[in-house]
Amino acid sequence: MTIETERLRDRVAAELIRTRDRTTLLTEAVDEDDLIRQHSPLMSPLVWDLAHVGNQEELWLVRDVGGREPVRRDIDELYDAFKHARSDRPALPLLTPGEARRYVAQVRDKALDVLDRARLDEGRRLVADGFAFGMIVQHEQQHDETMLATHQLRSGPPVLETAAPPRPALAVTGEVFVPGGPFTMGTDTEAWALDNERPAHQVDVPAFHIDRAAVTCSQFAAFIDAGGYDDPRWWSTAGWAHRQAAGLTAPAFWQRDGDGWAVSTFGRTAPVVPDEPVVHVSFHEASAYASWAGKRLPTEAEWEKAARHDPATGRSRRYPWGDDSPTPRHANLGQQFLRPAPAGAFPDGVSPLGVHQLIGDVWEWTSTGFHGYPGFAPFPYREYSEVFFGPDYKVLRGGSFGTDRSAVRGTFRNWDYPIRRQIFSGFRCARDA
Ligand code: AVJ
Ligand code: FE
Repeated sequence: MTIETERLRDRVAAELIRTRDRTTLLTEAVDEDDLIRQHSPLMSPLVWDLAHVGNQEELWLVRDVGGREPVRRDIDELYDAFKHARSDRPALPLLTPGEARRYVAQVRDKALDVLDRARLDEGRRLVADGFAFGMIVQHEQQHDETMLATHQLRSGPPVLETAAPPRPALAVTGEVFVPGGPFTMGTDTEAWALDNERPAHQVDVPAFHIDRAAVTCSQFAAFIDAGGYDDPRWWSTAGWAHRQAAGLTAPAFWQRDGDGWAVSTFGRTAPVVPDEPVVHVSFHEASAYASWAGKRLPTEAEWEKAARHDPATGRSRRYPWGDDSPTPRHANLGQQFLRPAPAGAFPDGVSPLGVHQLIGDVWEWTSTGFHGYPGFAPFPYREYSEVFFGPDYKVLRGGSFGTDRSAVRGTFRNWDYPIRRQIFSGFRCARDA
């Protein structure tokens, strides 16, 4: 075994432990009642997410990679996301908070033991480069973001600490021109990239303009003030039907405050910050704003080209700033600040073309449906991506302040229904050149 392999093993263990610390924080911040309660029909009870995270770890690391006996063979069905809709989960005979905590700890002990003995340097594709462990780290981090969204929907006094994100020294506005031509989309080389990010392939993207920053609260408020929510001209047919049926008049969690707007964030209500990116808007609201502004949403390929293409070399980078993994100076990630930062706050994260904060802050809606890339192959299971392929879901890119650094990269693809806005979703605009 090489030193490299031993370093990887240590790094994987550290990632598993760091990730569990976040899960623990999110589930210990509230009392038992809050853990088992349904805060929204869109969300699972927090205690379901907790045991589900442990169950996935048991299925993949303990049983599959480790070939060990089940820790609990009786609960797989309860924690299978395809067996029960989120809205039905509170009524299931779930593990109690105490049982769930014991369960995830038992699974983790065994998973770390499996990691100690795993051949990370050869053999099964599932285990090579620690992929299965990386997949489970990302899965837990994805649920940590989902649990953070549940916290946002929860009523009652605040329980999560909030620190203010950095303010920009120089505000960033305007757009950049992205020359037409091919670039490499997706990846074959990113060890922990998930199946839907593969394979790498050339895409010829016509020239376009893209905003250097995400649409801000003050820009979005101007759309509201201009009657944007009441003018079907800006909305698609499906978007207008949803706007009418749901009675949408502003982003989720916004309320009128005199002439302006206030927003409630993790139990605290305060005036909206004008230069912060707007968050908690649906694809339909994002598209309507873009039409009103004389622009459109970027396609998924445009977004990735803006984020990864280096015109000097023609190469696609791992991140907008280069190939180094994210640090706190690059991007607002990892639930360190529970809100997006204004444009210009992370100058070290800028792309070669001058586009800011593509990674972190808010998930960005694209105009593209969720499809497999040419040559897509499900790995290691169809239910991660493939069963969601089709026009019903729109792709979001870049991660949010709630996304961990291990769970987002230049190639990472998220998806959701175009009506959803409980996620930390915003957008930036683009237009044809
Ligand atoms: C990638 C965020 C769409 O949370 O629904 C979690 C990730 N898959 N458990 C989701 C996922 C299985 C997924 N998203
Ligand atoms: Fe899951």
